[in-house]
Amino acid sequence: MTAQLAEAFLERYHQPALAAYFAPGRVNLIGEHIDYNGGLVMPCAITAGTWLLLAPNNDQVIRFKSINFEEESTTPIAKNYLKTNTAWYNYPLGVIHELQQLDWQSPGLDLLYFGNIPIGSGLSSSASIEVLTAFALNDYFNLGYDQLDLVKLSKRVENHFIGVNSGIMDQFAVAFGEADKALVLNCDTLKYKVVKCDLGEYVLAIINTNKPRQLADSKYNERVEECQKGLEALNQEINIHHLCELNAEKLTLHNHLLHDPIVHKRVSHVVKENDRVHLAAKALNAGDLEDFGRLMYASHQSLKELYEVTGPELDTIVDFCRDYPNVIGARMTGAGFGGCAIALLKKGMEEDFAQQLTEVYQTKIGYPATIYVYAIGNGVKRLTDQ
Ligand code: GLA
Repeated sequence: MTAQLAEAFLERYHQPALAAYFAPGRVNLIGEHIDYNGGLVMPCAITAGTWLLLAPNNDQVIRFKSINFEEESTTPIAKNYLKTNTAWYNYPLGVIHELQQLDWQSPGLDLLYFGNIPIGSGLSSSASIEVLTAFALNDYFNLGYDQLDLVKLSKRVENHFIGVNSGIMDQFAVAFGEADKALVLNCDTLKYKVVKCDLGEYVLAIINTNKPRQLADSKYNERVEECQKGLEALNQEINIHHLCELNAEKLTLHNHLLHDPIVHKRVSHVVKENDRVHLAAKALNAGDLEDFGRLMYASHQSLKELYEVTGPELDTIVDFCRDYPNVIGARMTGAGFGGCAIALLKKGMEEDFAQQLTEVYQTKIGYPATIYVYAIGNGVKRLTDQ
């Protein structure tokens, strides 16, 4: 891969690349819409991801090119940068902007990206390119930030430069992911444990709804606001910083404060989903995949009924999985509103599953879904020098 990219770099920039980096995408096994509520999430990095090759130039510009997109940009170096449109290069530009806020001035740069994460599918192609760029520039220019600084910086890019009020889960998983392990991350303290993700007889199938994700960002921000409202209502009587400081039992004592039925539903999801992650971590530790699978289904149901972020596409996939004898658990992963579902599927059944699901999905939804099986991979890293 890197040799091919090095050739492509030379062809486009007429100079050799001097360093190469890789960052993965991620799936979240369970704990959805929990990170911005200060609870536990359980993501892992996947082996699909984004590559970056770079070299400085003497032209006082930053050039952003990608093998995936025709759109490219030549941005004169400046003190600050602004997001200009919806192009892919806003993500790395945002990273350079944030790094410069910390007292660094980027020199002229030639950057070439390539990614094999399906874009807009909820597998964190954006966190991947953010963390990749932050890690690469930090490493190449010896900026001295640690991995957690880079994760936080990448989150600021998403929140302030791009304008999505997302939590820290995606950037964290992309940076700290480990092969064959899930992270159990406390999004309040940012402490995490790694849990061996031994799927035994099963594989993690990822099913892309291929639904165009218009309005996904604004609906996401709406959910964040609803949780904020819930927190304010609860804080009339108690004093908590995050919804996930409550468990289901404690919430019942304060339910009367949640007058708005929508807010009540959102808060119920958050609190119960956080409880489920505790149980899921125990199940995974004990190697009880069946129990883990049941929790996945329960998570999906709650995201459908209480959090209302699934929709017919994701529901069709998960309903199919419930009836399919060789799947023991399935749920949407990521923000929802389209994107991907994940399923614990019996090894060897991949083809049959794909064939049957494709038929059902196409008939009901009107266009095909896509099925991938990725391994659980490592976090961001430098590749061997060019
Ligand atoms: C998106 C966001 C994450 C997280 C998930 C939902 O992936 O980027 O921060 O909130 O949605 O769990």
